[in-house]
Amino acid sequence: MPKAVVLARYPQGEIAEEDFAVAEVPMPAVEEGFFLIKNRLFSLDAGFRAWMNEGAGDNYLEGMKLNEPVQSIVLGEVIESRHPDYPVGAIVNARTAWEEFSVLDGSDLTSILETTPGVPLHEYMSTLGPTGVTAWIGLMEVGKPQRGDTVVVSAAGGAVGTVVGQLAKAEGCYTVGLTSSAAKAKWLVEEVGYDAAISREESPDLDAALKQALPEGIDLFFDNVGGAALNTVMGQLRENARLVLCGAISQYEAEAPDPVTNCWELITKRARMEGFMFSDYIDQFPAIMDDLGRRLKKGELKGFDQQYHGIEKTPQAFCDMMHGNARGKCLVTLD
Ligand SMILES: NC(=O)c1ccc[n+]([C@@H]2O[C@H](COP(=O)([O-])OP(=O)(O)OC[C@H]3O[C@@H](n4cnc5c(N)ncnc54)[C@H](OP(=O)(O)O)[C@@H]3O)[C@@H](O)[C@H]2O)c1
Repeated sequence: MPKAVVLARYPQGEIAEEDFAVAEVPMPAVEEGFFLIKNRLFSLDAGFRAWMNEGAGDNYLEGMKLNEPVQSIVLGEVIESRHPDYPVGAIVNARTAWEEFSVLDGSDLTSILETTPGVPLHEYMSTLGPTGVTAWIGLMEVGKPQRGDTVVVSAAGGAVGTVVGQLAKAEGCYTVGLTSSAAKAKWLVEEVGYDAAISREESPDLDAALKQALPEGIDLFFDNVGGAALNTVMGQLRENARLVLCGAISQYEAEAPDPVTNCWELITKRARMEGFMFSDYIDQFPAIMDDLGRRLKKGELKGFDQQYHGIEKTPQAFCDMMHGNARGKCLVTLD
C-alpha cells in the first residue's frame, strides 16, 4: 500500500517528529474529471505549521485533522488520467499532501510545469516554484525596492529569505540578513551574497546590531518572522519605508501572539506595512517564473536547498526546517 505522512497529534509548542506518523493508505481511485500523480518532491513550508494547531483554520485554509495526510505543496508526474487537461507524463505542481500518490481535479494551485531541459526538477520547487515566486511578489510587487535602498530580511537563511536577499542585491540595494547562528550569518554573506548578516547567537540585542549595521535606518523590511524582531525594526525606519509581511514564523508555535507595539513609527515615517498571499497572484506566475529563470541562467540568482530522501524522512526534514537546522529550501525527494 502507498504511504503518507499523517498528523499523529496536535503539536504543543515546538513541533516534534512524534507529531507525525508514516501510515499506509489505500491507493486512490481515479474517477472521471480526475487524474493520479506519483509524487516526486515534497516542499517543506513553514507556513503550513500555522494550520497544524488544534482548532486552527481561517479564511485561507482549513485546520489540519488528526490522522489525515499533512497538507503540502508537491511536485508529481501524472501516471493515470481521466482529465482532458492533464495528460499522462505531465509534471504538475499542486497543493495536496505528504503522500506518495495524489488524486487531483486541477484545482487548488495545480498547474502543469513547462520544464526546461537542463534545469533540475527540484529547482521547480524552490527558486522556480512557490518559494521563489513568493520572494519575487513580496519584494518586487509589495516592497518595490529602489536602487540604493537598505533592505533587511528576517529568516534570511531560509527558503524565501535566500531568494529575497539575492533579488534585492540584484536590484542595487544594500542587504542585511537576520538569522539564528553565527555559522549561518557567515554563509549568508560568503555564499548567498548578503552585504551583512546579524545572528541572534552573536548579537542578541537586535536593536543595537541594526543601528550599527544601518545607522541611517531601514527602507524596506521583508519580514518572515514577526514578533519582537518586527517591533524592533519598526523603530528604525527611514521615511517612506515599506514593511512586507510575508510570514510570522516566530508566532506559529507561540502560546499567545506578541503584540505589535511600534505602529506610531509608521505614522511619523509615512511608512507602509502590507501583507500578501502568493496564491493571489496566480495569473502572474508564468511571467514571474520566466524572470526568475532568466536570473538563474545569468547567474544573478543561485538556488540553495537541503534535500532529504524518502517519505520517512519528512517529519525530520520539517522539524529541521522549523528549528533553523536547514539552509535554503528544504525538500523531500521520493523514488
Ligand atoms: N505570504 C505568503 O504567501 C507566503 C508563502 C510562503 C511562505 N510564507 C512565509 O514565509 C516565511 C518563510 O517560509 P519558508 O517556507 O521559506 O521557511 P524557511 O524560512 O525556509 O524556514 C524557517 C526559518 O525561519 C527561521 N526561524 C524559525 N523559527 C524562528 C523564530 N522563532 N524566530 C526567528 N526565526 C525563526 C529559521 O531561520 P534562521 O535560522 O535563519 O533564523 C528557519 O530556518 C514563513 O513565515 C512562511 O509562513 C509566506
